[in-house]
Amino acid sequence: MKVLITAGPTREAIDAVRFISNRSTGKMGYALAAAAVKRGFEVVLVSGPVSLSEVAGARIVQVESAAEMAAAVRNNLDNCDVVIMAAAVADYRPKTRFAGKLKKKPGGLTLELERTEDILAMLGASGRPGLRLVGFAAETDDVERNAKEKLTRKHLDFIAANDVSRPECGFAADTNCVTVYGADGGKYEIPFGSKAEVADEMWKIITGDVK
Ligand code: CTP
Repeated sequence: MKVLITAGPTREAIDAVRFISNRSTGKMGYALAAAAVKRGFEVVLVSGPVSLSEVAGARIVQVESAAEMAAAVRNNLDNCDVVIMAAAVADYRPKTRFAGKLKKKPGGLTLELERTEDILAMLGASGRPGLRLVGFAAETDDVERNAKEKLTRKHLDFIAANDVSRPECGFAADTNCVTVYGADGGKYEIPFGSKAEVADEMWKIITGDVK
């Protein structure tokens, strides 16, 4: 099996020294990559900027922006059996990147933002036969409904719903609370545990070891 996993946040540049980003630490994506290596899979880990050690046995592709992540995913898709988008990809980026460092002036500043490409939706719409697509839904409200809506809208095989309103399940935590929904209507409640344990359970579901 060849698997591609994305992890971490993206950074969307405002100027030469500033960016917009989010609180993702990459821990869940890296745990999924480590669990995949243990299973003997060929692993490509497309990673946004994180402070984690590399996953031994995985090929890492470092990216910064959502556009770079989209390009890295496209460039590494050949012969892939599974793509897991665990990255917290920015949904918006500044429309203009200022050259050099933006100097302050009196008064406020308005930044115009534009949408980034939805990588997962692009993969879902491309309908590549045999490619299993797995997304994450980090939600604070209506977790199940929002997750299922993303599963359908993005044409995914599985979605891992993550209630990030709970501190022990949030971006920076070492533990996670995940329920996986399958396109076939399956619902798999993964017991609360470390991100490594949750990653291992997720692989059982994705590979069909758990029905
Ligand atoms: N995703 C992506 N490309 C983006 C944004 C998100 O591939 N530009 C992926 C994420 O990696 C994740 C899933 O889509 O697997 C999250 O779905 P999304 O609808 O974007 O959720 P949120 O970013 O939480 O946005 P919102 O709830 O505002 O719709």
